[in-house]
Amino acid sequence: MRRLLPVTDMTEPETAGREWSLDELADAYAYPELPSAGAAGAGGEAGDGAWLRANMVSSLDGAGQHDGRSQPLSSEEDMRIFGTLRALADVVVVGAETVRLEGYRPARAREAFAARREAAGQGPAPAIAVVSASLNLDFSLPLFTEPLVPTLVLTGAAAPAERVAAARAAGAEVLVAGDGAGVEPARARAVLAERGLRRQLTEGGPRLLGQFVAADALDELCLTVSPTMTSGAAQRIAGGPAVAVPTRFQVASVLEQDGFLFTRYRRI
Ligand SMILES: NC(=O)c1ccc[n+]([C@@H]2O[C@H](COP(=O)([O-])OP(=O)(O)OC[C@H]3O[C@@H](n4cnc5c(N)ncnc54)[C@H](OP(=O)(O)O)[C@@H]3O)[C@@H](O)[C@H]2O)c1
Repeated sequence: MRRLLPVTDMTEPETAGREWSLDELADAYAYPELPSAGAAGAGGEAGDGAWLRANMVSSLDGAGQHDGRSQPLSSEEDMRIFGTLRALADVVVVGAETVRLEGYRPARAREAFAARREAAGQGPAPAIAVVSASLNLDFSLPLFTEPLVPTLVLTGAAAPAERVAAARAAGAEVLVAGDGAGVEPARARAVLAERGLRRQLTEGGPRLLGQFVAADALDELCLTVSPTMTSGAAQRIAGGPAVAVPTRFQVASVLEQDGFLFTRYRRI
């Protein structure tokens, strides 16, 4: 039967209408149980034992950025959910341009999530994995020199040798996940999963996310719909070559605050 469901009816009565604690958010956004790689139904569809979720924010008219950043579209609650999703992840996969434009820093260890991470067998903070073909990154930044866990650089086998050496000299671990200059999205998942980094979160940007979508390598999308309009020529949250047939997702949850919708969709 087809029916329309008011968003307010989709929240648990006991937690509706008040601020959620970080624990409640972490429970609500917990990763699914991940069987070992190769097992039937392991992780997402890819069978590599990984679950890849994306966390993105979009304006009402589809912009994934404003003035080159996502912050103008975001809110305090959005940042709380952003932080919760990070705290649940083994690894945060991010495109090099987002690192360059948003001034990425290493993930922090957060007291609020320390016990949960320890119980899940996770280190104090997720590793950041930067996806880059050029390795045209500033390796003197704290992201590379001061992380709690070494920052990873995912690249192709043809990456410039001197940039690979510069990354390693700064303390980053360089992982090859492609035969050519670039990273193959499915291999990125698998290479990280092989290292035990199976609860994967990508924070974009749009060009990277578009490749995960095109490779059918995205299990879940946590999309914040920001109650803003920007017009202009901003990128959408995913870009690049289109898929032949639109990939279908189903809604897993919707939360609302101050007009912001915090949606979560899973691939069918
Ligand atoms: N709305 C949101 O939630 C959200 C989230 C994140 C970012 N953003 C916004 O998005 C913008 C940046 O996104 P973007 O789409 O332009 O860039 P991006 O996806 O963050 O990064 C693109 C770069 O990543 C590397 N890359 C991507 N795919 C690769 C592959 N297959 N193999 C190797 N390297 C690969 C390349 O780096 P090299 O050039 O180094 O080779 C490429 O130039 C910013 O304005 C940011 O604020 C918005």
